[in-house]
Amino acid sequence: MGDDLEALKSETLESLAQAQDHASWDAIRVGVLGKSGRLTVLLKELGKMTPEMRKERGQALNRLRDALNTAVEERGQAIAEAALEARLKSEQVDVSMPAVSTPLGLLHPINRTIEEMTAIFGAMGFSVAEGPDIESQWHNFSALNTPDHHPARTEHDTFYLPASHEESPPRVLRTQTSGVQIRTMLTEPPPIRVIAPGRTYRADHDATHSPMFHQCEGLVIDQGITLGHLKGCLIEFLRIFFDKPNLPVRFRASYFPFTEPSMEVDIGWSRQTGEIGGGTDWLEVLGSGMVHPRVLANCGLDPAIWQGFAFGMGIERLTMLKNGIPDLRSFYESDLRWLRHYGFSALSSVSLAEGV
Ligand code: DAH
Repeated sequence: MGDDLEALKSETLESLAQAQDHASWDAIRVGVLGKSGRLTVLLKELGKMTPEMRKERGQALNRLRDALNTAVEERGQAIAEAALEARLKSEQVDVSMPAVSTPLGLLHPINRTIEEMTAIFGAMGFSVAEGPDIESQWHNFSALNTPDHHPARTEHDTFYLPASHEESPPRVLRTQTSGVQIRTMLTEPPPIRVIAPGRTYRADHDATHSPMFHQCEGLVIDQGITLGHLKGCLIEFLRIFFDKPNLPVRFRASYFPFTEPSMEVDIGWSRQTGEIGGGTDWLEVLGSGMVHPRVLANCGLDPAIWQGFAFGMGIERLTMLKNGIPDLRSFYESDLRWLRHYGFSALSSVSLAEGV
């Protein structure tokens, strides 16, 4: 082999040994064996030689080409293997690593309470009913035995919408979920057992009132329903909700247009410590009563055959009491620090492990 071929060989082998990645390896390959590579050019020059010279030179070049081909091939393989090795190392997944421990999303306490109410009443055979946020005055007031000019209409600080027709009274943002009682009785034959959690609206804003808040309505219609059923149902609900099997519950005579008799429901608590079920004070938590015969009649039910009870509670209020949340306004401020503190993991489903 001539000196020039020796030099080409040793130079190529040396630079191959130095090549660490595919790009530099490929540059060497093309520079030597490619179309106008150093070796290819030498091979092309054979054609210009005399047959004697060509024979000897040709053999030497062929040997060199085979040797370099093998060397290039081997180095290429080694570089590819090293690259794969490095990739596998860097992309390694540690399957034993614990899952991200901070949950990325949290359930708002309002939604959590609605879930809990649904679970508790659901276990008692209630289903969930819904109604629109924009309600007719008839559903929100009249059918609920709250006629025109009744003081309750103004007490509610109602948001009235612009009238769409001259003949029909303007619609309202519902001030209570009680209208869902009417919608349910009009569309579902009794027996009825529903709760209706949802948004309600009143023009009121301070530490304990928000223009938008949530209520949960309840309605039971059947034959032979008495005040005893009402009491049993609500005592059971409150004791499970607050997780206090001996929670004192008091029924206090009151007035609502759509129930007769009507009762506020109080639970025992301590004014001093705020402890639910402790102390000797009483705290009002919801309104209830036997469905007024006129409400039944407004929905086409014969009060001589069907009776029932109804109740309504403020979801924010119950949530604040249960979770020790001091200010109602914080529910709607979308402060993530607040939500991280009071929110619930979306994975911690409500279960009634102890049953109803
Ligand atoms: N709708 C009443 C309110 O907003 C709450 C209420 C009281 C609902 C008694 C009822 C009930 O169904 O029977 O204050």
